Amino acid sequence: MTKIRIAPSLLAADFARLADALGAAEQGGADLVHVDVMDGHFVPNLTIGPPVVRALRAATRLALDVHLMIEAPEKTLAEYLDAGADWVSVHLEATRHLQRCLSSIRSAGARAGAAINPATPPHALAAAWDDLDYVVVMSVNPGWGGQPFLPGSVEKVRRLCQEASEAGARPAVEVDGGVTEENAAALAKAGAEILVAGTAIYGSSDPVAAIGRLRTVAEGVRA
Ligand code: DX5
Ligand code: ZN
Repeated sequence: MTKIRIAPSLLAADFARLADALGAAEQGGADLVHVDVMDGHFVPNLTIGPPVVRALRAATRLALDVHLMIEAPEKTLAEYLDAGADWVSVHLEATRHLQRCLSSIRSAGARAGAAINPATPPHALAAAWDDLDYVVVMSVNPGWGGQPFLPGSVEKVRRLCQEASEAGARPAVEVDGGVTEENAAALAKAGAEILVAGTAIYGSSDPVAAIGRLRTVAEGVRA
């Protein structure tokens, strides 16, 4: 059975109580903590930057999966790596220098990811397979938590896995946006290995239990 990694997204947590959110992630058996960095340009919303990533790094033993929704990430990438990000994804649509970004991330000892918006097809990554440890398939248009899952994302995950495999690559596929107990099984079956969930975890009355339920549903379908 392929293990599914569950990555609670802090975007849906109470920003005044991030330590509690980290505690729930640990207690629930999460594998990663997903940290959404938004710059008010690449996406309209504005969230957190390197100082908060640094504080989170010091406050948990879980790996930090930092999702950079920022224009020209090559300009500030080093700050997030220096702050202790363990996994870092940049948006393909936000940089003219994808390969340079991925190579900087790997050089710093972190795992390198590319995130793609719903309108970006998997083959846009064709030149980058060798440089990628993971791909983030956005299943909502990035910017906010709590948006409805775009159903075409399941087929997109399947196609992306197929295209990568045909190219001899096997990046881990992460799905981000609107992930719930209702779609987790289909996503895992399509090849997703990392499920990000904000509202489904921190919007629930029992985040610890919600993590366990997502894992059960997703791992139930892996052969
Ligand atoms: C959206 C963010 C997501 C978001 C997911 O732009 O990248 O990580 O927090 O939240 P939910 O699970 O609520 O869609
Ligand atoms: Zn995200």
